[in-house]
Amino acid sequence: MCGIVAAIASQDVLTTLIEGLQRLEYRGYDSAGVALLNSDGKLTRVREVGKVAALEAALALQPASGKVGIAHTRWATHGRPSQSNAHPHVSGEHLAVVHNGIIENHEPLRQQLRNEGYTFTSETDTEVVAHLVAREFDRTGELTAAVQATLSQLEGAYALAVMHAEQPDTLVGARKGSPLVVGLSEEGYYLGSDPLALLPVTRQFHYLKEGDVVSLTPAGVVIHDEKGQVVTREVHHFAHEDSATGKAGYRHFMLKEIFEQPKAVADTLSSLLGDDRVRIDALGPGAAALLDSVKQVHIVACGTSYHAGQVARYWLEELAGIPCQVEVASEYRYRQVVVQPGTLFLTLSQSGETADTLAALRFAQARQDGQGQSAYLGTLAICNVPGSSLVRESDLCVLTKAGPEIGVASTKAFTTQLAALMVVVLALRQLGQGASDEEARIVAGLKALPEILSQALHLSDDIAELATKFVDRHHTLFLGRGKQYPIAMEGALKLKEISYIHAEAYAAGELKHGPLALIDEDMPIVAVAPNCELIEKLKSNLQEVRARGGELFIFADPEARFTQGDGVHVMTLPICCPQLAPILYTLPLQLLSYHVAVLKGTDVDQPRNLAKSVTVE
Ligand code: F6R
Repeated sequence: MCGIVAAIASQDVLTTLIEGLQRLEYRGYDSAGVALLNSDGKLTRVREVGKVAALEAALALQPASGKVGIAHTRWATHGRPSQSNAHPHVSGEHLAVVHNGIIENHEPLRQQLRNEGYTFTSETDTEVVAHLVAREFDRTGELTAAVQATLSQLEGAYALAVMHAEQPDTLVGARKGSPLVVGLSEEGYYLGSDPLALLPVTRQFHYLKEGDVVSLTPAGVVIHDEKGQVVTREVHHFAHEDSATGKAGYRHFMLKEIFEQPKAVADTLSSLLGDDRVRIDALGPGAAALLDSVKQVHIVACGTSYHAGQVARYWLEELAGIPCQVEVASEYRYRQVVVQPGTLFLTLSQSGETADTLAALRFAQARQDGQGQSAYLGTLAICNVPGSSLVRESDLCVLTKAGPEIGVASTKAFTTQLAALMVVVLALRQLGQGASDEEARIVAGLKALPEILSQALHLSDDIAELATKFVDRHHTLFLGRGKQYPIAMEGALKLKEISYIHAEAYAAGELKHGPLALIDEDMPIVAVAPNCELIEKLKSNLQEVRARGGELFIFADPEARFTQGDGVHVMTLPICCPQLAPILYTLPLQLLSYHVAVLKGTDVDQPRNLAKSVTVE
């Protein structure tokens, strides 16, 4: 949420900054800006409302250059998207700053600075930081010290990049609550919200820790921890393919990422499966000891990741006999949830930087029992980003191998989370009940899954045809029962976020208790209906809908025995291991949303008002 890129190099850095912004655009796209220090020590700033392309057009008319620069793509929090609210923000003619996060005490600080004579030209919280650093620089004459003195006055979350015309050979970055990496190369040093931003110039990174302040100069990189001590941070090599730039011939990143799912699931599972059981040792050192003591699981996540947790609840209770509670992180973190002895705290996140999920993890880690011991047995993260805060701060981590997900709507991250969750559930089952035929059947199902997912993707053209029936609708209901209910929730979320059609999901058995009143000829009903022990009950629910004029769009397998007919459209999926049907049935729902959005002409990869990686509360 908001993207930062900054550079200090031996060559002009504008191209690096603009390319970095394009690669970070998924984090926010309501405005973008850049500030550069040229060889005369003059600061030039260009900002534009809209996407990075609009900034590029502005730069064509108002050229800027320099070997030191900072840049930003914004997702508005304080103040509407406008040129004056776009970053970088400046104080006077010398200092410029870009910021990701929220400064919670910006109001009193603004008042105090106004009383001292500072003027404000934006509605943002960030402008306060600009003036504070400028004030501290006037006192100390040194940028790193000025930033450190400023940080002690800030409450809230930030990643910052700051430069000052009177110290043109220094770029300073800081992080607390929002991600920031340092890129290292022969030609220069860089800051980025995500390593993806900097892959054209480097693959070597330091991941800053909470409270770190970093100074980049031509002589090198110096990192101070939150106590002000100089520290060394490990250098990580970014090994992923650089898939961020290309859509590999697909029209959108989202479609590319939908089609990558067979491989992403196979990659995620590759090291986790033995011949006929899951490999508990592959879950990391200490995994067996920790999981062996689990009596209960609390799963906490946001959005799509939360839906994956909802599926896992069914699996945990049915396959491992372990009670499970699933909650959105924004609620969990403000509740005094009762923690029974032996409870595992499990988080799910694509990015590993989601503010609420991270805060929930820290809150859980701080909880204590009556004896002053940790209330939770331990913490486990399932995450797609190695080195992310969630991964670093959890006891155990299972990495999904989806590769970078650029489309704002999450697709392959979700299905790989489900695959990893099933491995964790089977590990818990194995530890509690020993190896079993059921585990062997599901492991075989997991191995067959990538091929079955590929078959389901062949339905894309048929689903595009079906999508024409949704384009003019204003509302849609998604129905499922059992572990397909969370898949209906995920289907509804995908449709609303990229096509802007209002969609809701219900457990089909709940229809009669109210939502049936909504049903008429204008209300399409999407049903997730693989053959399972609840299929006859679901069929009865669908009859009740059809009897009231609702048009049915049913995703089912041949064994569910649905018949196409007047107002009943059936899309037939391959048969898969019943426990794994939630993973399979996600794909056609993603495709449905995708094709509806394309027909409606919405911005599929960057839907309005949204951003990927929600690093503010
Ligand atoms: C929806 C979507 C979001 C994210 C949510 C959590 O398509 O992408 O709902 O799932 O913001 O993000 P992560 O998984 O990064 O914690």
